[in-house]
Amino acid sequence: MTDNLIVLGIESSCDETSAAIIKGSKVLSNIIASQKIHEEYGGVVPELASRAHQQNIIPVVDVAINSASINKNDIDLIAYTKGPGLLGSLLVGSSFAKSFSFSLNKPLVAVNHMQAHILAHFIQHHKQKKPKFPFLCLTVSGGHTQIVRVNDYNEMKIIGSTLDDAAGEAFDKSAKVLGLKYPGGPLIDKYSKQGNIKAFSFGKPKIDNLDFSFSGLKTSIMNKINSSLQKDKDFISENLEDLCASIQEAIVSILIDKIYKASKQTGISNIAIAGGVSANTYLRKKLLELGKKNNFNIYIPKFEYCTDNAAMIAIAGKYKFKTKDLTNDYSESASARLSF
Ligand code: KG4
Ligand code: ZN
Repeated sequence: MTDNLIVLGIESSCDETSAAIIKGSKVLSNIIASQKIHEEYGGVVPELASRAHQQNIIPVVDVAINSASINKNDIDLIAYTKGPGLLGSLLVGSSFAKSFSFSLNKPLVAVNHMQAHILAHFIQHHKQKKPKFPFLCLTVSGGHTQIVRVNDYNEMKIIGSTLDDAAGEAFDKSAKVLGLKYPGGPLIDKYSKQGNIKAFSFGKPKIDNLDFSFSGLKTSIMNKINSSLQKDKDFISENLEDLCASIQEAIVSILIDKIYKASKQTGISNIAIAGGVSANTYLRKKLLELGKKNNFNIYIPKFEYCTDNAAMIAIAGKYKFKTKDLTNDYSESASARLSF
């Protein structure tokens, strides 16, 4: 029965209000309302994010149900993001999910956002191979950078994580220095396509284990740009593409070096990526090259399931529901810092 379960997923951890309907592993609808309001602030403003979620949540769920051509009573399970994320934002999605579950008398399941990014690999679509267990997942988003050993759908262990900024933050903060709008990651990706990766070089972190650090790189980028601007006020506009390509090369090479090291250390050659930064064209290309060179099996998610979306919450909810004997726990609360 669980294989054809109709699941409503609800995601509201950051600046995307999303609702999705899946049936089994197939996505029937995946509606995402992005909040443009943060663009001008250079980052997500938590208070504005929760207000926007509050406005968006009911219409987004309504559109998700209608475009999946189902009735709300057809839903078998409701899955929502419990954390990690911005507390005010999480509270909107979790409160809605609890009320909806209560009113429809349907089971409710709380999902970890970072685990859901990884489980997005199990959303069904034609061409994609699903990762084989165990696999390593480089999970790179705006708030997290982790290497996760995934033994099974619900059995994951973080074996490396960032000591300071996340990879997405490294992209976004660099973009801000370049005068680009938030989120800057996709813009750096776009401008890099015409740029030279060797035009500028920046300091590399020296971290022995599988952890990451991006704060030194950020300082190195800021110092280079500020000192160059003092000599030439048009430095950024004259070098935008080369700057983007060189910054992207620096961030991606840190990620690739660590996932290679993790594979050698664990002996696991099934490698996946997940999270918003896994949409980066250059990271995807470099990972495929790494796979080819070392005979690794590489798993890259479809673009639309890299950045925040509720389809991944629904599929993660389905797997959690399948393996655990759950009773609705309406006292379970949203958690900004949720570990695995
Ligand atoms: O997973 P996500 O949508 O939200 C969080 O859970 O944080 O990740 C958002 C992050 C942002 O930092 C954004 O700049 C980055 O993913 N991102 C990218 C690209 N697309 C999104 N970074 C680099 N290249 C991209 N194409
Ligand atoms: Zn995310």
